[in-house]
Amino acid sequence: MKIAIIGTGYVGLVTGVCFSDFGHEMVCVDKIPSKIEMLRRGEVPIFEPGLDRLLERNVRAGRLSFTEDLAQALEGADAVFIAVGTPTRRGDGHADLSFVMAAAEEIARAARGPIVIVTKSTVPVGTNRRVREVVAAANPDLDFDVASNPEFLREGAAIDDFMKPDRVVVGVETERAARVMQEIYRPLYLRDFPIVMTDLESAEMIKYAANAFLAAKITFINEIAALCEKVGADVKQVSKGMGLDGRIGKTFLHAGPGYGGSCFPKDTQALARIGQDHASPIQLVETVIKVNEEVKRRMVDKLLDLCDGSFNRKTVAVLGVTFKPNTDDMRDAPSLTIVPAMIGGGAMVRIVDPQGRREGESMLPGVEWMTDPYAAADGADLVVVLTEWNEFRALDLRELAGRMACPRMADLRNVYSPGDVRAAGFVAYEGVGRRG
Ligand SMILES: NC(=O)c1ccc[n+]([C@@H]2O[C@H](COP(=O)([O-])OP(=O)(O)OC[C@H]3O[C@@H](n4cnc5c(N)ncnc54)[C@H](O)[C@@H]3O)[C@@H](O)[C@H]2O)c1
Repeated sequence: MKIAIIGTGYVGLVTGVCFSDFGHEMVCVDKIPSKIEMLRRGEVPIFEPGLDRLLERNVRAGRLSFTEDLAQALEGADAVFIAVGTPTRRGDGHADLSFVMAAAEEIARAARGPIVIVTKSTVPVGTNRRVREVVAAANPDLDFDVASNPEFLREGAAIDDFMKPDRVVVGVETERAARVMQEIYRPLYLRDFPIVMTDLESAEMIKYAANAFLAAKITFINEIAALCEKVGADVKQVSKGMGLDGRIGKTFLHAGPGYGGSCFPKDTQALARIGQDHASPIQLVETVIKVNEEVKRRMVDKLLDLCDGSFNRKTVAVLGVTFKPNTDDMRDAPSLTIVPAMIGGGAMVRIVDPQGRREGESMLPGVEWMTDPYAAADGADLVVVLTEWNEFRALDLRELAGRMACPRMADLRNVYSPGDVRAAGFVAYEGVGRRG
């Protein structure tokens, strides 16, 4: 199969690289020239473990290339995937579909057909039909089908998720589109990974429903954590006891500083708006959105308490600012609420993050970026574990405490045991949902 992909971000690039590893001939398109130049040099513009090696292997095998020229990418292509961003539209919470629709029009102008136009971006129900209308209006002679193929990969584990998915969801309305999609995913199908074939609307809905469910699960345990703090229970034990129940499952059941990232915040918002627009509000999701904001604010209060009620002139070492480990993605990270609140209160904030600086520097002005957690703790009044990078999971706590002016720790990912932290010389420890 020859396949073009529009958008070389976290999803488009991983899709392009993995499909080429399946043996397809892939051409990845982006409109940012610097990204294409980097990729042509063999450099990966994002941080995703293992992506550089897989990219190099497939470029060398002649199956993977990069271009700004969509018409060239579409020459002889059996399918084109749209993997552009669908951020929250300013002002109203809807998904901003302008990038998707622009890509659809560009395809209509450049494609010769026959071709399947596949939307991989997360889009509201009805979008694939709109894509079909837009393309048909812009190029009435084009022979094409549409397909919805939402993506479920997790940043930081994207290659594994793509190569070994729990399922692949494909929404189609024609036999021909079904055949092409089956051919594209044949390597997975042959290895018994389930392919769920649906209509267009159901495929679109599955993606939002799945993300909203996971966001709700995180938010549920975060609310339980708040109650644990009040009643003296330990949320880590509670979540273990709950998660071992096969009906519940243990993933996405870790209390923390609230969900963030490039998907959950915008997708829960978009789903809530879709519900409102259809006079079928999803009240549970609306509440999840509200509670998640409260969770982040509660974290700020926790830090404020640890700083004796004032951030003024306190030196705080923040370990981790990306929305989760193993990614450089800063979009909607809890750190973007928590760090500015401390700076606004007069704190001097030092940040250590293995990959967050490139993205984070412009988003978190007024902080000092450092590379060594121990140096960041020198003379500090508080250390905050905000993202559970492996680098921060086994720190020498004695060394850390010894360097601090006042050894206090906020462990917002419950990485450490309160007893170990205190035994190492910390005078105060606060996790999430457990006794200090
Ligand atoms: N990031 C994730 O973990 C993840 C997971 C599942 C689904 N998704 C969904 O996948 C979609 C893409 O997300 P992402 O994180 O990869 O976005 P991203 O912002 O990292 O990448 C989008 C890319 O598309 C390019 N682009 C936009 N319009 C273009 C055009 N007309 N022609 C060529 N290039 C164009 C941009 O330059 C950018 O490089 C979103 O809808 C998102 O919700 C993301």
